[in-house]
Amino acid sequence: MLRKLGILFAAVGIVVGGATLTSSAHAQEGVKITDDAGIFKEFGEKAGLVKIMDDFMINLLKDPRTKPFFENSDQKRVKEQLVDQFCFILNGPCEYKGAKMKPIHANLNINRENFNALVEQLQVAMDKNNVPFRAQNKLLAILAPMHRDIVTK
Ligand code: HEM
Repeated sequence: MLRKLGILFAAVGIVVGGATLTSSAHAQEGVKITDDAGIFKEFGEKAGLVKIMDDFMINLLKDPRTKPFFENSDQKRVKEQLVDQFCFILNGPCEYKGAKMKPIHANLNINRENFNALVEQLQVAMDKNNVPFRAQNKLLAILAPMHRDIVTK
């Protein structure tokens, strides 16, 4: 009996532990913050992010692997939300109030190729705006695991 209870508690622990992990992951979804204090400046602060996102959207609309997703989206809103999200991730003075990554991308049928293309186009935009390579990689390291919430196909 005691053993059975022990197993039961262990199981509840796993479920509760799992739920806690999941809910905190959701609360932080898309908004993991870098520990690098100077990185926001390396992106040119908020004005720099606005320029990067303008170039990024132009690239996304040119690339046949991403164009179909963005041509009919509210491009102005997506850019604004990305600025806030990246600003927050980069330790800038912004709050991200947009949608959570999983539900907003859920019905888009995004595959790995689409995801990789988006990352590639972000790199092109960051290069164009002279973001140092090391700073680019720090942001990409935070974005990369988000594929779990975004790639559904
Ligand atoms: C790490 C990768 C990604 C991040 C951080 C990201 C972030 C975002 C953000 C912040 C929004 C705006 C949410 C809002 O309006 O509240 C958004 C919307 C959107 N994203 Fe992504 N995204 C990523 C990958 C992708 C990929 C790979 C695609 C397709 C190739 C994609 C397609 C879209 C589209 C079409 C919307 C607009 C959806 C709508 O308005 O209904 N995203 N994304």
